[in-house]
Amino acid sequence: MPVRFGIVGCGKITQRLALPQLKTCADAEITALVDVNRSLAEQVAETAGVAPTRIWTDWKRMLREAEVDAVAVNVPNVLHAEVAVAALAAKKHVIVEKPIATTLADADAMIQAAKTNSCALMVEQTQRFDSVHEVAHDILQRGELGPVTHLRGRIGHAGPQYWSGSGQSWFTDARQSGGGVLMDVGIHLVDLLRWLSGKQVTRIFCSSVTRQKTLTVEDNASALLEWSDGTRGSFDVSWTTQPYEVATQWYGEQGILRTAIGISPHVMIQRSQRDGDPNQPLGDPVCPPISSTSRTGGAYPAFISSIIHHTPPPVSGEDGRAALEIILAAYESARTNAWVTLPLLGAKR
Ligand SMILES: NC(=O)c1ccc[n+]([C@@H]2O[C@H](COP(=O)([O-])OP(=O)(O)OC[C@H]3O[C@@H](n4cnc5c(N)ncnc54)[C@H](O)[C@@H]3O)[C@@H](O)[C@H]2O)c1
Repeated sequence: MPVRFGIVGCGKITQRLALPQLKTCADAEITALVDVNRSLAEQVAETAGVAPTRIWTDWKRMLREAEVDAVAVNVPNVLHAEVAVAALAAKKHVIVEKPIATTLADADAMIQAAKTNSCALMVEQTQRFDSVHEVAHDILQRGELGPVTHLRGRIGHAGPQYWSGSGQSWFTDARQSGGGVLMDVGIHLVDLLRWLSGKQVTRIFCSSVTRQKTLTVEDNASALLEWSDGTRGSFDVSWTTQPYEVATQWYGEQGILRTAIGISPHVMIQRSQRDGDPNQPLGDPVCPPISSTSRTGGAYPAFISSIIHHTPPPVSGEDGRAALEIILAAYESARTNAWVTLPLLGAKR
C-alpha cells in the first residue's frame, strides 16, 4: 500500500521539488493538498492529477478529515513547528522543509513529538541529495585527503524574488522567515558542511550586511567557524550573487577537494606528492563522474524508503536542529560583534 501524503503549502517548493519527486515514487500517493490560497491549490491539484475533493484550505481540518500517512510541511518557516507538531501528534510521519523551525524551542518540540508518537521526522535539506555532494561525501568519509584541517563553503544566488517570481515575499519578512540569507541559504550550507565533514561546530564569528536598501533582513554574510577537532573554516552566503553557485573546498594533509554546483557541476581532487615536495601536485586533478540525478532519487524517495523500511530518515530532526543552532549563533555573533560558543544557552536560543 502506498504512503499517502498530505502536502501543506502548494507554493514553489511543492511545485518544483515535492511534486516532481513524488511523481517518480510508485510507493507514494498524494491524498491531500492544503493551501490558504484555494485557487493555487486547485491549479496544483490539476497539474498533479489530484481530485478537487482532496483540497483543503485549513491544515487542521485536513489532519482530521483526510486519509494521510505522512505530511509535507511546505509553508513559510515560522509555521513549520505548529503544523509539524500537530501532524506528529495525529500520528503522521513528517517531512519538513528547511529550516526545521525558527527557534530551538520549536525544533525541540518537533523532535519530542516525533519520539512521543513513534513517527519519522525528516528535514528536507536539498543539498545532501545533489549527486556532486553525494560523491564528495563518499570521498571525504573514506578519508582520501588525509585529515582535513581547513574547509570553506559558499552559496550565492540572486535573491528570493527570482525564486518566488515576485518583488516582495515572506522570505524577506523576518517575522515569517526568521531572518534573511543566513536563515534561507546559510542553513543549507551549514548542514552541508556538517554532513560532509562529520564534525560539529564549536564557535562562530559572523558579519552580516544588508546591501539592498529595500530589505530589512541581511542579504550577505560571512562567518569564521571552529570545529570540534580543531579544524578551522569559513562560509559566505549571498542574495546578490549571479549566477547561482554552491561551492565547497576541503584542505587535507594529502590533497585538496573542491565541489561546485550551479556553474559546471564537479568534484575535483588534487593530491600532493607523497615522496617528493608536498607543495607539488601528484599528477593531474581527478574529477570523478557525476550523475545527473541523486542516487536516492531525492529527499522524498529517501523519506518514503525510511517509512517503508522502518529505518531512520537520512536527515533527522536533530540534524535540522544542529544546523539551526549554528545559524542562530551566527545571528547572535553578527548582533554582538563577538565570537559565540555552541551549544547556545538561554536567550540566544
Ligand atoms: N529546499 C530548498 O531548496 C527550498 C527552496 C525554497 C524554499 N524552501 C522552503 O520551503 C518552504 C516554502 O517555501 P516556498 O518557496 O514554497 O514558499 P511559497 O511562498 O512559494 O509557498 C508557501 C505557500 O504556503 C501557503 N501558506 C501560507 N500559510 C499557510 C497556512 N497557514 N496554511 C496553508 N498554506 C499556507 C502560501 O499560500 C503559499 O502558497 C519554506 O520553508 C522555504 O524555506 C526550501
